[in-house]
This record gives sequence, C-alpha cells and structure tokens, in this order.
Amino acid sequence: MAQKIRVAILLSGGGTNLQAIMDASRSNRIDARVVSVGSDNPEAYGLKRAREHGIPTFVVDYQTIIKGIRGRSLKDLVPEDFDLETVLARQTFPSATSDRIKAERYFCTRAIAEAALLREMAAYPFDLLVLAGFMRILTPYFIDHVNTDPSQPRIMNIHPALLPSFPGVDGYGDTYRYGCKVGGCTIHFVDYEEDTGPIIGQKSFEIAPDDTIDTIREKGIKLEWQLYPECIQLFAEGRLRVVSKTYRLEDGTEFNRKVVEIAA
Ligand code: GRF
Repeated sequence: MAQKIRVAILLSGGGTNLQAIMDASRSNRIDARVVSVGSDNPEAYGLKRAREHGIPTFVVDYQTIIKGIRGRSLKDLVPEDFDLETVLARQTFPSATSDRIKAERYFCTRAIAEAALLREMAAYPFDLLVLAGFMRILTPYFIDHVNTDPSQPRIMNIHPALLPSFPGVDGYGDTYRYGCKVGGCTIHFVDYEEDTGPIIGQKSFEIAPDDTIDTIREKGIKLEWQLYPECIQLFAEGRLRVVSKTYRLEDGTEFNRKVVEIAA
C-alpha cells in the first residue's frame, strides 16, 4: 500500500466528518492518517472523538484570546512575521475593507490566534490540512504559512451546499428556504475569500416535497461522509492539480478561474 499522507484537522463542533475520515483511515480505505485535531472551541465533541482514537488534540480558544487582548496594543501582540499591509492587500472581504480601523483590529486579532494555531500544528507535521466544520475564517496570514507553494494548495474545506450557491454559515438551511429541488455538498481548496476556492468534488441529492430542514441536513451530511474521504484519497494519490483557465465569452471578454483538474 502507498505511504499514508499526514492529515491535520481543524473543527469546531461534533466532528462527524472527522469520524468518517478516521474510520476510512483505520480501515485503509484511504492512504491517509490523522496526525492532529485542533479546535477553536474547547467544548467541541470532535476533540473527544479524536482522543478516543488516540489522536493528539489541542485548543486555540479564539474567544478567550480576543477578549484577553481588548484594550492592549495590538501592534505589540501580533506575531513578528505578520505584516498588516500584505494581509490587507491579499484579503478580499468587503466588510473588512470598508472600515480601516475595524479591518486592522480584525486581522491583527485573527493573526494572534492563527499564530497560536500554527504553533500547535507545528508539533505534528502534516501534508494536508482538512477543515471539518471549522467555523472560523482563515486569513491570508495563516493560509500563506500553510500553502508554502501557492501553486499546490493544501487546505481543504467542506461546505454544506452546491457552491457557488449558498456560501456562508447555513448552506443546507439556505438551500431549503430557497425552495431548491436539489441540494448537496462541496469540497474545495481554501483561498483568500469565503467558500470560493477551486472545487475538488461535489455530491448532490434530490429534495422531495415532504423534505424538511432536518431531512435535508441528514441527506447532506451522509454524502459529506463519503465525499471527504474520496477527496482526501485523490490528494493522497497526487491526482489534484490546480490550473488557471481562461474562458472567452461570446462578447470577447475573458473570464479567468482557477479550477481543479483530476488526473486519471
Ligand atoms: C458540516 O455540515 C459541514 O459541511 C459544515 O459543518 C458541518 C460539520 O459537521 N461546514 P461535523 O462537525 O463534521 O459533524
């Protein structure tokens, strides 16, 4: 069997995706093993699941960190290699750019928490970082530290909708309330925007007239448990390549997009 790649996981909640990945690893359905599980939430049940599998865990409690630095000079607390101007130039959240003071505060506090995440993760070297219900947005400071080769991204995220529809925190809820006839989940590489990175895989399910928000979530999460191991396996086999594509529209304008090509 091929050498197993090392997977670090970040999560905030129940960790059923973590469970699916650990089970797939244990039964050798994927050439990957989980080397660490971290959370921003000390109460995350996923941490318990990891410990039961003998996997090292850590917590970087964002809330406490952010509270603890209130009123202190952020410039003295940010990591030494943090450069606000670089991060501001790379990030693309409109809400953060509209107010410079707020943006500074946002990116400095996140960099302080992210430096703690990077320190913890450094104890367990990894090939791939998997976000499995991690409810924090990662800033360019963190992403650039992990994606040391920008042409080969190595942070994956799962989103509970068929992107680019319904980005944000409640993909299944948004799908349901919109009256969609099909729902699904998406795995993508993480880029500087929210839920916009190159898509690796998607699975869909039909929505029947008697489906409720609960049955939609149930259908969706079951597909997530299949999709994550499949995408991790593609990464482990070295079959994922991000390429820049240019599409010419009928009016002559060009449209560029980074997409994932899956080698046969
Ligand atoms: C999943 O629905 C995932 O799509 C979303 O958060 C949820 C995490 O579930 N990002 P779990 O913690 O893996 O059970």
